[in-house]
Amino acid sequence: MRIDIVTLLPALFDKVFEESVLGSAVRNGLVEIFLHNFREYGDGRHRTVDDTAFGGGPGMILKPAPLVNCLRDVRRLAAPGPVIGLTPQGLPLNQKLVKELASFDRLILVCGRYEGFDERIISEFDLELSIGDYVLTGGEIAAMTVVDAVSRMIPGTVGRQESVEQDSFYEGLLDHPQYTRPATWEGLEVPAILQEGNHAGIEEFRHCRSLLTTAVSRPDVFSAAELSDHDREALQSLLS
Ligand code: ADE
Repeated sequence: MRIDIVTLLPALFDKVFEESVLGSAVRNGLVEIFLHNFREYGDGRHRTVDDTAFGGGPGMILKPAPLVNCLRDVRRLAAPGPVIGLTPQGLPLNQKLVKELASFDRLILVCGRYEGFDERIISEFDLELSIGDYVLTGGEIAAMTVVDAVSRMIPGTVGRQESVEQDSFYEGLLDHPQYTRPATWEGLEVPAILQEGNHAGIEEFRHCRSLLTTAVSRPDVFSAAELSDHDREALQSLLS
């Protein structure tokens, strides 16, 4: 997958795309990332990209021409892909959306700064995405979040794809609790069933714990999950 990122702060991304899982995905060519600084398209000697708001108000607004001219050039560099603006007004990112984004061969992510984008920039976006109901100082950390979550969905980026398929939210439920050695630590025991070799029993135990954790911690996620009759019976017996 090719990901183009349009930003005023390309250097912020360096470490994130060099280290760990994302770093190997980039080195192995599974994800290709291109950073574009739209400052280069700014006006005048100072390469100005922002201005005060019409009608008054605090802070500076990103001017349409520098960003849109940069975006138009970036679009032409490769086959088309959705242009996604990172904004707090956007569609909330979730795992379902992450999976959909991972099905594209190319994404173009646009990061804002200051008080936001001039509205005429927003009409250039195919989608606005938010990573949560809070305001960041710019879209860069949101773009890193999108790249990280989407890259994990590309086969080969995470060691074993099964581990992705067992993630929280992958099947619409939170993950079950995990344990490693020692079996007893400070008097706390790992559940006995996990220490025995009964794979079907372990699967069942884990699935029930996923259902329970989701119901208790995230009732909103739980009510959207598609439950089987077997799931409902399992929950009933856990709660009775
Ligand atoms: N830019 C500023 N805040 C943001 C948020 N919550 N999500 C995405 N982009 C943003």
